[in-house]
Amino acid sequence: MCGIVAYIGEKQAYDVLIKGLKRLEYRGYDSAGVALLNNDLEVFKKQGKVADLEKTFNNKFPEGKIGIGHTRWATHGEPNDVNAHPHYSSDHNLAIIHNGIIENYASIKKELQSKGHQFSSETDSEVFIHFIEDIQKNNNCTLDEAVRIALTKVVGAYAIVIISKDNPDQLIAARKGSPLVVGIGEANGEFFLASDATPIVEYTKNVVYLNDEEIAIINRGVGINIKNIDSVEQSPYVHTLEMELEAIEKGGFDYFMLKEIFEQPRSVSDCMRGRLISEKDHALLGGIRRHLKDLVEAQRIIIVACGTSWHAGLVAEYVIEEITRTPVEVEYASEFRYRNPIVNKGDVLLAISQSGETADTLAAIELAKSKGAIILGVCNVVGSSIARASHEGAYTHAGPEIGVASTKAFTAQLTVLYIMALMLAKAKNTITDNQFKDLSRQLESIPEKINTVLSLNEEIEKISELYKDASNFLYLGRGYNFPVALEGALKLKEISYIHAEGYPAAEMKHGPIALIDEEMPVVVIATRDSSYDKIVSNIQEVKARKGKVIAIVTKGDALIPKMVDHVIEVPATHEAIMPLVSVIPLQLLSYHIAVMRGCNVDQPRNLAKSVTVE
Ligand code: M6R
Repeated sequence: MCGIVAYIGEKQAYDVLIKGLKRLEYRGYDSAGVALLNNDLEVFKKQGKVADLEKTFNNKFPEGKIGIGHTRWATHGEPNDVNAHPHYSSDHNLAIIHNGIIENYASIKKELQSKGHQFSSETDSEVFIHFIEDIQKNNNCTLDEAVRIALTKVVGAYAIVIISKDNPDQLIAARKGSPLVVGIGEANGEFFLASDATPIVEYTKNVVYLNDEEIAIINRGVGINIKNIDSVEQSPYVHTLEMELEAIEKGGFDYFMLKEIFEQPRSVSDCMRGRLISEKDHALLGGIRRHLKDLVEAQRIIIVACGTSWHAGLVAEYVIEEITRTPVEVEYASEFRYRNPIVNKGDVLLAISQSGETADTLAAIELAKSKGAIILGVCNVVGSSIARASHEGAYTHAGPEIGVASTKAFTAQLTVLYIMALMLAKAKNTITDNQFKDLSRQLESIPEKINTVLSLNEEIEKISELYKDASNFLYLGRGYNFPVALEGALKLKEISYIHAEGYPAAEMKHGPIALIDEEMPVVVIATRDSSYDKIVSNIQEVKARKGKVIAIVTKGDALIPKMVDHVIEVPATHEAIMPLVSVIPLQLLSYHIAVMRGCNVDQPRNLAKSVTVE
């Protein structure tokens, strides 16, 4: 939540900042702002998107070769111009951008007010910079020392960058719980800072990921010094980015979400490459192999995740229990972390997260770790906090996912989880050679099958036209398709603002059936599997109450098309991996409905891609 970007070097900072903020806008888009230091330290900020901020300049852009920028997802205080970042200190000599939450800001604010500080915004971030200013004045110390002292006193999460009028060649940055990457420019002494690598990748591939409670002191033309909160010097480890610029551009699509939906044949196959080779009976995830013994011996696996990643976890529960016979529990990370759960030494906790930054998932990891669990992470973002907090794990290699609605990350997560299940089943000897070969062959054919479903795009668009004005939707599925029903409903509600609920089809008669009338579209995922006959009965129950049924069926199904209003045919595959195929039409359906309703599908209201607050 919130994106931060900063630059120091010889370029015009404004251009770097605005371009960077546009790349980070998926993290929050309530307001945007920049601060540039030329002779004076000037702050420009505006409620709304980065484009709204740009308009305020009327093509006369501020100059300066050092600056900071912010795109906000509001936590403290409503989204307006005043609460937008950057925030000044009281003497306007310092300005801060902040991603995170300072939990004890109210008591600090009170103390500062008693000393005469006045605040113009309702934010915790403005309190943060006044606090640093106050410490610097009282201790007559350097800015980095004042920042360090402040960090020992604040409670919460932060990624901050501070710019000072008194030192036009320096930026100070720090992080705890919120991500921060430093790009080391190709020109001597040039540096970029950002919440993730997307604003940096076009300038340099050399980056340093700051660790929690580290402070970076960056001096133009000199270099970067990192120390921890106890003043101990740290040696920065320079990583090479593997990300390519094209991966973060729209590539001719109207929205990132559509691009990402259409990327799935490739992202699923990238995710399998070298890890799954059916002909050689090979299923191997390097990081997981190092903990395979722990997985084999584990009495149970606990999966923690949020949102779409949690849905991937549900599918994983079904397949891991089915083919490995290891008990699996799937928990919302936000519930798990606060309910005093039983975690035994040797339990394996599997944390699934696209961004690798979700605050609740991170906290669940720390809790389980403290109780002796082995932590395996399944993340998309390389070098993310969850990836680093885990003992080991596997990356999903789906490439950057920019659309707030998760699509290709979900199918890549499933792919990793299936490979993991196969590895474990083989190691535990709970799967026959034939079953192993069959499942891995079927997995290898998934990219092709996703392509087939994508070719139905226009057909799905026509169905979307008929239902774009609905107020409610119900999604039903059974077995492996139940998590797909949840995922379909989440996709629709988050980008089109239509109320949608996902249900196990058999649960319908325990309540939701009361909602069904001729106005209610019901999406039923009814592919041919072991619960096919049961779901046919559920469809009849909906039709008996005049609900409109859109059914996702296996190609060649002769029965369901006679009973329902619309069918979308998907290619047959093993029922355990059907979610990789059956979710695709639901992604397209929600995309088209949202576009037809005039919604910004990449940046739905109130949401952010990376949820770094609890
Ligand atoms: O980055 P994560 O996978 O940890 O994020 C979890 C959820 O915030 C995320 O899946 C969210 O539900 C998406 N907007 C769903 O499309």
